[in-house]
Amino acid sequence: MQYDLINNITSINTKGSAIFGIFDDLNTNGLVKSLDSKDISKIKDIIKKSSFEGKIGQSLCIYDILNLKLEKIYLVGLGEKNKYTEKSFLKAVNYVSQICKKDNLKNIFLDLDTLIKNKKIDINWAIRNISIQINGIDYVYSETKNKTKIKNIYKPNKIIFICTSATSSYKTKLKKYFLQGQAISNGIKLAKKLGDLPSNICTPTYLAKTASALGKTNKKLNIKIHNEKEMKSMGMNCLLSVGNGSEEPSKLITIKYNGANKSDKPIALVGKGITFDTGGISIKPSNGMDEMKYDMCGAASVLGTMKAISELNLKINVIGVIASAENMPSGSATNPGDVVSTMSGQTVEILNTDAEGRLVLCDALTYVSRFKPKHVIDIATLTGAVLVALGKVASGVLSNDEKLTEKLKKSSSISHDYIWELPMWEEFQSELDSNFADIANIGKRYAGTITAACFLSRFTEDYSWAHLDIAGTAWNEGANKGGTGRPVSLLTHFILENAKSL
Ligand code: BES
Ligand code: MN
Ligand code: ZN
Repeated sequence: MQYDLINNITSINTKGSAIFGIFDDLNTNGLVKSLDSKDISKIKDIIKKSSFEGKIGQSLCIYDILNLKLEKIYLVGLGEKNKYTEKSFLKAVNYVSQICKKDNLKNIFLDLDTLIKNKKIDINWAIRNISIQINGIDYVYSETKNKTKIKNIYKPNKIIFICTSATSSYKTKLKKYFLQGQAISNGIKLAKKLGDLPSNICTPTYLAKTASALGKTNKKLNIKIHNEKEMKSMGMNCLLSVGNGSEEPSKLITIKYNGANKSDKPIALVGKGITFDTGGISIKPSNGMDEMKYDMCGAASVLGTMKAISELNLKINVIGVIASAENMPSGSATNPGDVVSTMSGQTVEILNTDAEGRLVLCDALTYVSRFKPKHVIDIATLTGAVLVALGKVASGVLSNDEKLTEKLKKSSSISHDYIWELPMWEEFQSELDSNFADIANIGKRYAGTITAACFLSRFTEDYSWAHLDIAGTAWNEGANKGGTGRPVSLLTHFILENAKSL
């Protein structure tokens, strides 16, 4: 998608439509730079006669602009000026992209001045976020639908930002932030697609193939796939115990992105990749079980983030690790009460085979320590309890390093990909006591998200680590059922903040 920057639209040559933001005071001053007085009084008149109140989610489409080549002008409501925040901006931009899609706009002139409330909102942040949204509107799940029926996927041709104050030297910055948004958007789309794919296509082997394909797109990427035999010899019996009941072989996928000096310690991202979670012998109720195809969304977010950072060619070393298996009941499945040994040497009593995410993650977390990581972040659809605590708005974060939590919170507030911290105090640890092994894989009744993180904490003692429970945020339910691509935006922002070439 093309992009450009102009100061006003008084002398445009490209055919297209323009979009202007208007607060609920219905003040049209923002249009003055681009339109002549005749057009403005005409627009004022149209506003008066319409029901447009300038609220977010409202718009007014105006044809027959006298002095310009514009096809249409849209006025988009921004709500109350004094209450205008980044959140309002994001809502308005989301509404703008819906209009573009609905009306199939090809060349879009977008007025930035009012949208960023005359620089109250950072222009770089604004460009990045517009780019994330506008580049994301062409996502359509099509893999298992009749291809001939899915045609005319909407893709805008060009977006031209109108900004009175921007100098032509700003264009290099515009490029930088627009491309950041594009890369994040591409990462989100990959994560959405992997989430949406059914488990008979998206198997551990499929995830491995996706990683290998990604590896071919950039020389700085290096892919290693460990099969079951290799995992066995590394002592990953806990990870392997999850896939015991499945016909699909488990995979450990390592994606290395070498963007900085060899001596730079990497950031490691570890994703839960359960391609279907029946619960195993501790089988889940059948209602809504199809949603457990999304139990690999942590893995999907690792792949999406690796794609985004490799597109941006960032100066940083990042290692993505995916622990992938299918959790099925069968004659060869693990039974409740079985004890397995982990790569760390600790033994685990598997009291509930439905608490399988932590079983694959613990060995992957031991495995990443060989890369001497600066930070390790694991991402997992780990507990239903996080939905009870935080709903579908925020991912849970639990960590053994306050500074890392603060960094993640900062990236969350910049990206608006929300996280909320839960405590991981030692008082919770005794929940995991077992009479037959070093650790039980479940706690008692309460604080399920915390006890799950406590389990993982037993394997992350020698490095700075944070755990993101994305069971509530990784997909939407209901009519909009589908992957959200979260938390690719959070993770990519975090990597951007840590990279040298910001
Ligand atoms: N994949 C599930 C968590 C989940 C549940 C994600 C609902 C999204 C929606 C996980 O493997 C699981 O089954 N967790 C159990 C743990 C319990 C057995 C301790 C849970 O949360 O019920
Ligand atoms: Mn489970
Ligand atoms: Zn699961």
